[in-house]
Amino acid sequence: MSDGRAGNGGGTSEAQTFYGRWARFYDAIATLPGIGSWRERAVDGLELSPGDTVVEMGCGTGANLSYLREAVGAGGSVVGVDVTRGMLDRARRHVAAEGWENVHLVRGDATAPPIERVDALFASFVVGMFETPEIVVEDWLALVRSGGRVALLDATRSTRPNAKPLDAAFRLFVAASAPPTTQLRYADPPWESLDRRVAAARRPLESRTVEYGTAEFALGFVRLASGHVP
Ligand SMILES: C[S@@+](CC[C@H](N)C(=O)[O-])C[C@H]1O[C@@H](n2cnc3c(N)ncnc32)[C@H](O)[C@@H]1O
Repeated sequence: MSDGRAGNGGGTSEAQTFYGRWARFYDAIATLPGIGSWRERAVDGLELSPGDTVVEMGCGTGANLSYLREAVGAGGSVVGVDVTRGMLDRARRHVAAEGWENVHLVRGDATAPPIERVDALFASFVVGMFETPEIVVEDWLALVRSGGRVALLDATRSTRPNAKPLDAAFRLFVAASAPPTTQLRYADPPWESLDRRVAAARRPLESRTVEYGTAEFALGFVRLASGHVP
């Protein structure tokens, strides 16, 4: 990350303002039971073992932390990185309330993470916020030890015919949950840039990992991709 190629800093301050303001509301949605089952499946995809160290990029209010902690056990470590103070504050309160001493939260930019080698890396609903997700994920792969696993969980538009009636609702949701724009009409609608960025983020995972696998939830609106670093 040291060469600054990712160039994602432009959106970071908007993300902090937006998520800082909406942290409490976001937390209520992020921890809904249905979403928990996707999170659980995604963490299963990391194939963690007791004692492992796993990093979550863009951990937000910490909705994945309980699943990650359970997978690595009391002898492992979970590191959550997020750039937004308000989101991390909620995650910190949660960690303190649970008394999890092996969960560490770091305020930092996931596109230039303050992280050394880890056993596994996870990011959920994050890569769609990066301007150059392909480069960021390539850099993330370099942080994971050989044999470790990387998993990305993301929302995108669904290509399934039975999801068509929900497409407009999904677009509305994406527009409402994206940092705001001053444009009256979108030159680049956020649901299109989201699809494009998620696809770009998956490319290095598909080409540079082994045993690459994918899964879909919620009629194809939520997608999981994971692979082993060779
Ligand atoms: C949609 S939320 C997802 C939070 C969490 N992963 C989840 O699944 O609930 C996106 C999170 O990414 C964080 N984020 C966005 N850009 C970031 C960056 N460059 N570095 C670190 N965190 C970032 C935001 O602050 C926010 O907490």
